[in-house]
Amino acid sequence: MIVVTGVSGELGGAILGGLRAAGGLEVTGASSSGDGTLVRHADFDRPQTLRRAFEGARVLVFVSAGYAEDDVVLARHGAVVRAAAEAGVEHVIYTSLAGSAERLTIALAHRWTEQRLAEAPFDVTVLRNALYAEIPAGLALAGLPMAADSGVFAAPLGAGRVSVVARQDLAAVAVRVAAEAWRDVVSGGDRRHAGRTYELEGVSAVGGQDLAEVLGEVLGRPVAYQPVPLGAARPGLAGLEAYQAGHTISTFSNIGAGLLEATRSDLPAFLHAPRPARDVIAAAVRAAVDAAPAAQAGVGQVR
Ligand SMILES: NC(=O)c1ccc[n+]([C@@H]2O[C@H](COP(=O)([O-])OP(=O)(O)OC[C@H]3O[C@@H](n4cnc5c(N)ncnc54)[C@H](OP(=O)(O)O)[C@@H]3O)[C@@H](O)[C@H]2O)c1
Repeated sequence: MIVVTGVSGELGGAILGGLRAAGGLEVTGASSSGDGTLVRHADFDRPQTLRRAFEGARVLVFVSAGYAEDDVVLARHGAVVRAAAEAGVEHVIYTSLAGSAERLTIALAHRWTEQRLAEAPFDVTVLRNALYAEIPAGLALAGLPMAADSGVFAAPLGAGRVSVVARQDLAAVAVRVAAEAWRDVVSGGDRRHAGRTYELEGVSAVGGQDLAEVLGEVLGRPVAYQPVPLGAARPGLAGLEAYQAGHTISTFSNIGAGLLEATRSDLPAFLHAPRPARDVIAAAVRAAVDAAPAAQAGVGQVR
């Protein structure tokens, strides 16, 4: 059995869907949401739920649960590693964070988890996921009303760019690795992904200028990029949880410093044609414009 955690989320849900669609695999999902009838109940904050959720799992796809303070995330992830060992899982595939993102504040919990996994009594594959292309897409969406209004896209990204990957592409890699790991475990053959860390860095990068161009293409009029200082961006984060505001500033800061542009990636070994980041961003902006035509006229409806 392959068990995939976090399946109410976008990434976990896409991985479970891909494994089910592949056919010929024994696969089930686990989630902290729901009542445990459609998928197994696995709440990382309640370790007592995990032993049962992982029962019979030979391969576990462990999707990180990072939306919390670091101490909470470490407790969650530590509980998953212990429960997987107790349940006799043979191979754990963990969705981590790419090397280019090493200096982001969110990297701490991922690297800590990788260390715990390396000490555990099962085989491990680490999928070091790039930042999602949906993150700059969200920035473009946030800037859409102003761009429509004034022809300016303002963001605290300096002249830096960030290498990103569409979430669906990261899910597709996880599906392939999990399916192959499962076949290797069942056949008793060589475990091709055991002990491997894959850097799933983006092969295309985007910065403020690119986002302004995408906005201009969708709106059908020129949009100029205007870099703003980090300090000016902070008040706009007031509605976020405190830890999220910290992580967001860390991300802007790393982009502005030019540290999030990757130089090599294992992604092409898994995907022949990763979705271009600009296409993902343009599709998100176009969908928002189509859903709220008022935004085209400069009304700030799209958030
Ligand atoms: N690479 C990137 O750019 C990037 C960006 C954002 C986040 N991430 C990380 O990647 C993960 C998956 O991303 P996503 O886009 O699928 O996020 P998402 O759609 O927001 O889903 C949130 C995820 O957190 C899980 N979760 C929350 N509380 C949990 C708990 N108590 N126990 C177990 N799982 C819990 C959810 O699983 P259930 O509710 O089904 O249990 C779900 O998988 C995130 O959780 C985060 O760690 C990566």
